[in-house]
Amino acid sequence: MSKAPPLRLGVNVDHVATLRNARGGARPDPVRLALAAIAAGADGITAHLREDRRHIRDGDMARLKAEISKPLNFEMAATDDMLSISLATKPHAVCLVPERRQELTTEGGLDVVGQHNVLSPFIARLSDAGIRVSLFIAADPRQIEMAAKLKAPVIEIHTGGWCDAVGDGHADKAASEWKRIVEGAKLAQAAGLEVHAGHGLDYETAEAISVLPEIRELNIGYYMIGEALFVGIDETVRAMRAAMERGRARAQGATSA
Ligand code: PXP
Repeated sequence: MSKAPPLRLGVNVDHVATLRNARGGARPDPVRLALAAIAAGADGITAHLREDRRHIRDGDMARLKAEISKPLNFEMAATDDMLSISLATKPHAVCLVPERRQELTTEGGLDVVGQHNVLSPFIARLSDAGIRVSLFIAADPRQIEMAAKLKAPVIEIHTGGWCDAVGDGHADKAASEWKRIVEGAKLAQAAGLEVHAGHGLDYETAEAISVLPEIRELNIGYYMIGEALFVGIDETVRAMRAAMERGRARAQGATSA
């Protein structure tokens, strides 16, 4: 059997900005955290510019693009305002997410089936500008098939429901969510999509999901920023990479990629 392909770690720095904004000043600086995460071995940085700017601000995105040496993954809702900002910023990738003002975090996947008419020209504009588009969706076969039809090169599978079920000890729900992720990752790869995953991952769930050879990138924020408060971001990145490598070592690389 062939070896599973490498798995990248993207670190989401939103919640450094949450902490900064609590006092309205300039510290702690999410760009400084991004640089430290990269120095410790992160493969990329993710930041979500929300409509209400509750954490990352426009200036953070511009500085991340200017100052980091690894790919920037710009998370955003599919709005005209965000399209203009992302086209001006020219990140490596844009990850399109659903957004509601009242939510605490990105609670569900994007409904690409329901919104395909709106998303199609949106994806084309970003792709024409050389930006890699990723769609943050549930591991639902209809959503995955539509993502492929929309010619997005990447999907990111929303792992929040699975991680919550694992964390809450709901074994049946965890097992059914896991099955959905396993089948979704296979279906997406067969449809020609590159598969990423993220939301709610910690050391345990990151290790478990790294077993799936179809998954090429994990994007992780909240848990890592919380851990970094205790042991620093260097140690957190190293420990997360070690967890991913333990999982990858168990993957019997059944991929065609
Ligand atoms: N990927 C996407 C698309 C997200 O919206 C988020 C949350 O901002 C993450 C990954 C990271 O999730 P978490 O902060 O729970 O690790």
